[in-house]
Amino acid sequence: MIITKSKGLRGEVTVPGDKSISHRSVMFGSIAKGTTEILHYLQGADCLSTISCFQKMGVAIENRGDTVIVHGKGLRGLTRPDSALDCGNSGTTTRLISGILAAQDFHVVLTGDASIQKRPMNRIIEPLTLMGAQIHSSRDNGCAPLEITGRPLRGISYTSKVASAQVKSAVLLAGLYADGETSVTEPYLSRNHSEVMLRYFGADVRTEGTTALIRPAAELEGRQIRVPGDISSASYFICAGLMVPNSEILIRNVGINPTRDGILRVAKAMGGHITLLDRQSGSGEPTADILVSSSALRGTVIEGALIPTLIDELPMIAAMACLAHGETVIRDAAELKVKESNRLEVMVRCLTAMGAHVTETGDGMIIRGGKPLHGAVIDCCLDHRIAMTFAVAGLCADGETEILGGECVNISYPGFYEDLWKLMRQC
Ligand code: S3P
Repeated sequence: MIITKSKGLRGEVTVPGDKSISHRSVMFGSIAKGTTEILHYLQGADCLSTISCFQKMGVAIENRGDTVIVHGKGLRGLTRPDSALDCGNSGTTTRLISGILAAQDFHVVLTGDASIQKRPMNRIIEPLTLMGAQIHSSRDNGCAPLEITGRPLRGISYTSKVASAQVKSAVLLAGLYADGETSVTEPYLSRNHSEVMLRYFGADVRTEGTTALIRPAAELEGRQIRVPGDISSASYFICAGLMVPNSEILIRNVGINPTRDGILRVAKAMGGHITLLDRQSGSGEPTADILVSSSALRGTVIEGALIPTLIDELPMIAAMACLAHGETVIRDAAELKVKESNRLEVMVRCLTAMGAHVTETGDGMIIRGGKPLHGAVIDCCLDHRIAMTFAVAGLCADGETEILGGECVNISYPGFYEDLWKLMRQC
């Protein structure tokens, strides 16, 4: 993928459905009774992995493109797959499905691509083992492949060291099957889509501060889900609209759940022109249209409780900070090291290659903004968010930016480049 400097971006874009909500709608629909109809399902590779895992466990799932119909089998209706479940590149599939498999009466092997086989799984192995599940890493390295044999589970009160919705959700899903209440406490509140959707499907879930609690369920009920546009996918256009001179972009129907909206807060703190229009709140997940235009940006500090609300947007924010006046500090973000790639290391290396002044710290980075960016060859390490970040950075750089392996955007945003080109053509 070759990107050159843009003269401006104008027009409207509707981003694909939210990745986190799409995964959950198929998972919860599969273990619910009755039919779940999912509108605006994300057709990215990660969410297709989730569909195929549940199909292999006997769930009839019709993928009609934008709409997906799941014929739920009930909490105890999954059947043993005849081979390993392949989670592809998807951490959400691997970790959430483990919570469900921990309680099934069969043995399963969970695997995935080279990236997934390097990502830490002890964070779910530990609590699920405490609940009574038999789960271990085949190579004994704390990573996938995972071998899981379901067992009768007991409710636990678990305190997680990391603010992670994937850990929280795995434990809550296992808690559906436990013999008593289960709770998960995290250092900061992570995205709450599981709590919102499980409640919508009839589960007894409540939240007290950064603790989520669930009681075992007899059954869940299938529902209709309208998946909002993914704010993580929208973030590339939000930042592009702010960064590229002579731009104005309207991004339609974006999920603005407060546990995900850190990008909006940070962009405003940096002086970005952002207006939210047509706010709606269907099925517990609020949405809005987001209007952005070119802005003079200034540096900011991003830390603490804000981090989980924008964890996937940090690569894009770091690139935006290179164009801002003054210093931006990102701290408390060590989780970036264990995403689809080591995003801390990759971002510092690639931004430096484009001429930015960036220093890696143990748990984040310091960016001294204002140095002009120039094109470079970017190895995105097959990380979809790195590829999209540098497509946007390339729009603000002199010369050509070449992204190697840029087709990996298909993981979360098939059609990303086409949507970007459409906005460029309006200028
Ligand atoms: C996700 C949670 C986040 C996020 C990931 C999706 C989810 O991961 O980075 O892209 O759907 O629960 P962690 O929970 O590990 O922080």
